[in-house]
Amino acid sequence: MILSRTVNSLKESDSFKVLSYAKQLERSGKKIIHFEIGEPDFDTDDRIKEALLDALKRGETHYTASQGIPELRKEIAKYEKRFRNIDVDPDNIVITPGGKPILLFVLLSILNDGEEVLLPSPGYLSYSSLIRFAGGKPVYYSIKTDERNTIDPDEIRSKITRRTKAIIINYPSNPTGKMASATDLVEILEIARDRKILIISDEVYSRITYEKEHLSITKMAEKDDMGLIVVVDGFSKTYAMTGWRLGWGVLPDVLVKPVVKIIQNSISCVPPFVQYAGIVALKDGEDFIKNMVAAFKRRRDTIYEMLQESDRLDVYKPEGAFYFFPEILDLKMTSVEFTQGLLEKYGVAMLPGSAFGPMGEGHIRISFANSMENLQKGAEYLIKYLKEIP
Ligand SMILES: Cc1ncc(COP(=O)(O)O)c(C=O)c1O
Repeated sequence: MILSRTVNSLKESDSFKVLSYAKQLERSGKKIIHFEIGEPDFDTDDRIKEALLDALKRGETHYTASQGIPELRKEIAKYEKRFRNIDVDPDNIVITPGGKPILLFVLLSILNDGEEVLLPSPGYLSYSSLIRFAGGKPVYYSIKTDERNTIDPDEIRSKITRRTKAIIINYPSNPTGKMASATDLVEILEIARDRKILIISDEVYSRITYEKEHLSITKMAEKDDMGLIVVVDGFSKTYAMTGWRLGWGVLPDVLVKPVVKIIQNSISCVPPFVQYAGIVALKDGEDFIKNMVAAFKRRRDTIYEMLQESDRLDVYKPEGAFYFFPEILDLKMTSVEFTQGLLEKYGVAMLPGSAFGPMGEGHIRISFANSMENLQKGAEYLIKYLKEIP
């Protein structure tokens, strides 16, 4: 057998079934409204593009230190102080192509065969694959959308075994748009301290919030707790730079060397001209973020009102990120069948809840990273379809 057990253990996500069907329909000439997209539909700010061109012209085209250029790590440390109010040594910051590699490299650094990592369900679809890829075993805990607190600490405690190495948390959450309450975060910190497990806090949506600012777990942490916390963040969502592949991790001392060794032996480094552009994003990007979030908020509010029209949707108003994750009441089919039917009949693509783990079934994920016009049209079709299905 040519293929490894690792690669065979990876499951193709349910979302790809819908996506490949959408592509097939598009190829045959059908117009599709895209609600499945997980990236801002805004263009990257011109100042950031110019900074990349300047760096290229200056000749910043060679390998850099694998950990990332010091100038960018220093600027990120300032951002961490400004935004998360933590004092981070630039030596604890590692630059990667997006935030996702930090997740993988940290998991590769901590997991031995079969060791366990707790992950949210519903939750980001890559977590379980990355854990398996690193040789570990995913163990789901549930995220609630209908209450003030998102977790049940007793449930999490009951799932921790001697083999548990880490817990992944993600606020604002993809797909629920839920933010953590202070009680949630304090509970998680206590569990991690008690059981000596690592917290991997995925905060890539931390700047896309509506009524209130993001509350990072680092704000609840004592200085010693930082030895147990990894923060994952990046430029993709915050500055509409998904294709640039630029992100970072704030790592405890013990993880810096292992992660940098993995970078040295795999991707070498992030292109320097991309890193220099990142400095300009951090310095000059605040207005851009404000305008983008204001546009997302207008769309969220309009579509939320529209979705209220259907008595088949139990819809929760997201506090962050750019997704609705409604439950479809009295659904007599799987969420994959539902999304495929909607695509076939009305050309509206969205992701089935089952793509987000076992607790996602019965839901759909609707991204509002699309024009208001398309969103309104798509929401009308969805409501129509909900009236038609049994
Ligand atoms: C929750 C979450 N984490 C991490 C990522 C990865 O983002 P990137 O690698 O582009 O920074 C995504 C992208 O969709 C996400 O939704």
